Amino acid sequence: MNLADLNKVARAMVAPGKGILAADESSGTIKKRFDAINVESTEDNRRDYREMLFRARDAMSEYISGVILYDETIWQKAKDGTPLVKLIEQAGAIPGIKVDEGTKPLPGCPGELITMGLDGLPTRLPKYYEQGARFAKWRAVIDIGAGIPSYAAIRTNAHALARYAALCQAAQIVPIVEPEVLMDGDHSIDRCFEVTEFVLKETFQELYYQKVALEGMILKPNMAISGKKAKDRAGVAEVAEKTVKLLKECVPAAVPGIAFLSGGQSDEEATAHLDAMNRIGNLPWNLTFSYGRALQAAPQKAWSGKAGNVAAGQQAFTHRAHMNGLASKGEWKADLESKKAA
Ligand code: 13P
Repeated sequence: MNLADLNKVARAMVAPGKGILAADESSGTIKKRFDAINVESTEDNRRDYREMLFRARDAMSEYISGVILYDETIWQKAKDGTPLVKLIEQAGAIPGIKVDEGTKPLPGCPGELITMGLDGLPTRLPKYYEQGARFAKWRAVIDIGAGIPSYAAIRTNAHALARYAALCQAAQIVPIVEPEVLMDGDHSIDRCFEVTEFVLKETFQELYYQKVALEGMILKPNMAISGKKAKDRAGVAEVAEKTVKLLKECVPAAVPGIAFLSGGQSDEEATAHLDAMNRIGNLPWNLTFSYGRALQAAPQKAWSGKAGNVAAGQQAFTHRAHMNGLASKGEWKADLESKKAA
């Protein structure tokens, strides 16, 4: 492992003004997204859609530091035969790869999940590296509900995250460590804080036990946020303040950056929360975005599967990337949303 190089990639992933495009939806998830815009989820349509994003030159070169790809995409070629990975590299962004294989029920823990994909990972990683991937992602899912999460689910998922992260670093790939506490349900922001704190503390303990170099990784957490169905959901200032407090209590300063997931927040909420945290300032790590839905919902709608809408889709993507790029520096303003300056 060359830690200096891992650290260089990690820092580039969270460079101020830039963040990560999570375009790594599994075939099942992208089908759901396409169903919502009445587009059939064929291999060609998935390629056309992602090609549209990766060819949005302004967004990709100015506001996007890296792109998380799904296995299908990393091997795909654009319509003119250029590998999609090359499009990303040509724009100056870093290709990354989702390497987990989704979740399965965790035995003994009704209603809870464990992320799969460790078997065979040491063989897959060098192939992804050769194909251009310089970072990877693994998502663990923790649900809040009656009597859950259990310690068993938190601990088992933290262990798997650390196993994955150590294997990535051995293969000279920066791991994005993503323990996601879901915002489904009606729990309060304080319950989310409490569960996330436990999850992050367990995760960093496992990373330590398994000798993961913190300087060569990125954390991708949820924010401290009210459940989607909660009454009296916390406002922007409270989310920002509690999330910063939570992270300061759990994330060592040696971690170069934290790139949030959007997790079902609206586009503008996700931007406003990130912006408010960066306005608090004085943080030991760079705080940015690694959004899937909050970057792609608008372009998906504008595109709607029609070749004639590619420019509109790219414009919608550029706008969201621009807004989140500003938020990563604490320079976003709500009135920029209506200007669609991009
Ligand atoms: P969302 O921003 O849509 O939550 O997706 C980010 C991600 O990569 C989830 O694993």
